[in-house]
Amino acid sequence: MEDFKFDGTERLPVDYVKGILQPTPTCDMWDRIWNFQARSDDLLIATYPKAGTTWTQEIVDLIQNEGDIDKCQRAPTHIRIPFIEWIIPFIGSGLDRANEMPSPRTLKTHLPIHLLPPSFIEKNCKIIYVARNPKDNMVSYYHFQRMNKALPAPGTWEEYFENFLAGKVCWGSWHDHVKGWWKAKDQHRILYLFYEDMKKNPKHEIQKVAEFIGKNLHDEVLDKIVHHTSFDVMKQNPMANYSSVPTKIMNHTVSPFMRKGTVGDWKNHFTVAQNERFNEDYEKKMADTNITFHFQFS
Ligand code: A3P
Repeated sequence: MEDFKFDGTERLPVDYVKGILQPTPTCDMWDRIWNFQARSDDLLIATYPKAGTTWTQEIVDLIQNEGDIDKCQRAPTHIRIPFIEWIIPFIGSGLDRANEMPSPRTLKTHLPIHLLPPSFIEKNCKIIYVARNPKDNMVSYYHFQRMNKALPAPGTWEEYFENFLAGKVCWGSWHDHVKGWWKAKDQHRILYLFYEDMKKNPKHEIQKVAEFIGKNLHDEVLDKIVHHTSFDVMKQNPMANYSSVPTKIMNHTVSPFMRKGTVGDWKNHFTVAQNERFNEDYEKKMADTNITFHFQFS
């Protein structure tokens, strides 16, 4: 890292932290991240990248502010809800931002459960985990790596497909991530949600989140939150669509951050052979869990 001056013309290099690929600034700061001091009233949003994190962040912020749209316009998502292991040139350190933030804090992480700073569990923090079916998750991640210079270039779709299956992407294996958090949910205060359920019945899932957070909201407030967190509205919201991040990091003309927001887009990317290969691999890797994913709406 020492010799590398990131100016946005190249990609940030990556390295391994305990077997998980991470951008090197995160690797360099790993001790500080691991020793992060959670507070008992922190709320953590944990996801594998591209599972619907930003959507959940907006929902949570609106619930906490009882549907007050103006309050949720106070700053871009990553400022309102710091991403604790994200230390990115031109954007700053989510870790520092989190440390400086007054309580109660809402924080974000993509870390797999075994790399979660232990203080979150020691302090019995509430955690919302969101999982997305891996085929759409993979497609979304591929396009995100195309547009985001803070992550490695994805290579061709065929190369990316293999790297994703092998867990050779930042934040590691999708399978291990969703399974690890699924197992942890029975021992800790974790609300485990699915992107597909949020798509199918947003009001129901938003209500679940509100209950988990301890907020009792009127029906009209819930409806307002459903509206303001719909894909089309969020896509136009500069405080939620990542347009505030410099284009030398995220180039939305390559692929917008708010790309499609649908279930089943993988069908436009996977070949028949890739789908067969994926399913075979999935059955093996997911044989030891009872999580069910929906890959399409019938
Ligand atoms: P696509 O690339 O499939 O469109 P994350 O926030 O974890 O990075 O996830 C980004 C994915 O969530 C993108 O998926 C993005 O479009 C989708 N997304 C963001 N806001 C959404 C919303 N309000 N409704 C549905 N999907 C949303």
